[in-house]
Amino acid sequence: MSERSKVTLPALFKKVEQGKPITMLTCYDYPTAYFQEQAGVDMILVGDSLGMTMLGYDSTLPVTMEDMIRHTQAVRRGTPSAWLIGDMPYMSYQASTESAIRNAGRFMAEASCDAIKLEGGVEIIERVRGIVSAGIPVMGHLGLTPQSVSALGGFRVQGKGALQAKKIIDNALHLEEAGVFAILFEMIPERLCKLITERVRSCFVISLGSGPHAHGQLLIYHDMFGLYPKFKPRMAKVFGEAGKVILEGLQKYVEEVEDGSFPQPENWFGMSDEEYDELIKLLG
Ligand code: KIV
Repeated sequence: MSERSKVTLPALFKKVEQGKPITMLTCYDYPTAYFQEQAGVDMILVGDSLGMTMLGYDSTLPVTMEDMIRHTQAVRRGTPSAWLIGDMPYMSYQASTESAIRNAGRFMAEASCDAIKLEGGVEIIERVRGIVSAGIPVMGHLGLTPQSVSALGGFRVQGKGALQAKKIIDNALHLEEAGVFAILFEMIPERLCKLITERVRSCFVISLGSGPHAHGQLLIYHDMFGLYPKFKPRMAKVFGEAGKVILEGLQKYVEEVEDGSFPQPENWFGMSDEEYDELIKLLG
């Protein structure tokens, strides 16, 4: 395990103040969390994107609180020090402020999260206020919000037109006023993200495909390493072809078992001649 100290909210704001970019990745399981801890990632999001990347659904909508809690617990076991954010799944906060607080509390109590994230602006502002007043740090999420993909007309860049861009800025200011510590902007134009980053005072801005001017960057882990077979978003940079390496390894395994070159003596365990002879006697 790495020796770094626990990432805290004051430490994150200090980075922002010093102009040092915050690093953030999604993560859904223990071994990946372990590697992200070793790499020194500041913030880890257990995103409801796990519905697609880990569970094979076509969208994030079928993901349940139980799915989220189980994966978040595993991630926390791998990363004791990252600032861990649990993503509120579809319908875990939309119905009422009470359900929002209760489910946000589950991430904190059952999965040792540091914060939660939810999607939306003014329409969920009472949920945000409720969770913040329960003492739980909240990250907002604007721009492309996958839980509303149907209403948004698909996975497309948001805020390209002035009117829609103004609405995104207004929503950001509402979230800031409601007390979020950060806002994630997914797939908005970089100029819009810059304007917002310059305007907010009490929270910081994270970009996912929204350019370099934010206080920090987020990538989806599976996109970074070619691990999601269905598609790769244009904005994602591939930092290593882990998917290819794994597939080649699997093909080699099948080949070696089939041609008898696996296993070899170093892959199995022996038994002494005496014990073996004794066993044969016992078998009569
Ligand atoms: O679920 C997730 O991973 C997310 C990101 C797309 C930001 O919400």
